[in-house]
Amino acid sequence: MERVGIIGIGEYLPKRVLTNQDLEKMVDTSDEWIITRTGIKERRLVEKGEATSDLAIRAAKEALQDAKLKSQDLELIIVATVTPDMQFPSVSCLVQSALEARNASCFDISAACAGFVYAIVVAQQFIVTGIYKNALVIGAEVLSSVTDWQDRSTCVLFGDGAGAVVLSRVKRGGIISVYLGADGTMADLLMIPAGGSRSPASFYTIENRMHYIKMRGNELFKIAVKIMAEAAQIALKKAGLSCKDVDCFIPHQANLRIISAVAKKIGLDEDKVYLNIHKYGNISSASTATALCEAVKEKRIKKGDIVVLDAFGAGLVWGACVIEW
Ligand code: ACO
Repeated sequence: MERVGIIGIGEYLPKRVLTNQDLEKMVDTSDEWIITRTGIKERRLVEKGEATSDLAIRAAKEALQDAKLKSQDLELIIVATVTPDMQFPSVSCLVQSALEARNASCFDISAACAGFVYAIVVAQQFIVTGIYKNALVIGAEVLSSVTDWQDRSTCVLFGDGAGAVVLSRVKRGGIISVYLGADGTMADLLMIPAGGSRSPASFYTIENRMHYIKMRGNELFKIAVKIMAEAAQIALKKAGLSCKDVDCFIPHQANLRIISAVAKKIGLDEDKVYLNIHKYGNISSASTATALCEAVKEKRIKKGDIVVLDAFGAGLVWGACVIEW
């Protein structure tokens, strides 16, 4: 049976680097604290005026080239993001315009750090049902635009970037199983309180720094480990596989200690885990997208390998996906 697979990959990271030493000059923190507590050494940030669609378009062009497709071959563009250029139009429409992908329908998905996995699963459904042939899925964020650079508990964590894949029917390999989950009862653990219909922008929301990420990191930590471990195990079980079959594990890159604890919990060798958190920090939906792209470029993923994507984020939402490469 033909499956849906990834036929092209691409990424774009802004050039500007913000190191832990740079952060030491901005807030009361240290390189040592950030590395030991998170595994992050540096992150990339956009230049002033650069927006999420700018990163998404560059990643998309590389993915299309890798897939050897023309933009007119695309019938669907989904962008996973929680930092769109603006409330509307969607980032995916801006990408469509830049690519001149006039045959594509477009929408964005808001599933925070699990957004890229959610978007892959949604695109897969359109292709499996025969509605569309080729889909472009992008995870793109400018988290620096919603980061409170005065709050040391969050500003050391986040960065900007984009990763993209092209999905199509494949004769060999492809997506074997998927699993998505959510629990909205814990929505208050991680949010941007203002800027939506509940608290539109006002002097009050700005004075109270309500347009920035608010996170109860310590509580999230334990939940992230439990949920990411369960999600990977459920997706593998659905695929009829076990951890021993995994060649490359691509987790959401929120915290190195979370990733190590998840690997330990499910009995996965650390050398199977792909990491880029030290270079980029947490780029939400772009974390799994760029990590997948770089693992392929570095030949950590080869034809026939079993790859697991595993992500967790604000909502709460989570998702895992088993792919034969
Ligand atoms: N530098 C120095 N000290 C700091 C810093 C900092 N940057 N930040 C916090 N501290 C201090 C705190 O004030 C606290 O001090 P105290 O003990 O005197 O009160 C101490 O360090 C410990 O703080 P904790 O918050 O308990 O530190 P923890 O070990 O939990 O690490 C972190 C914090 C990195 C945020 C961690 O909890 C984490 O990674 N949580 C999960 C994040 C996550 O998974 N998010 C979901 C995905 S993200 C998304 O969807 C966008």
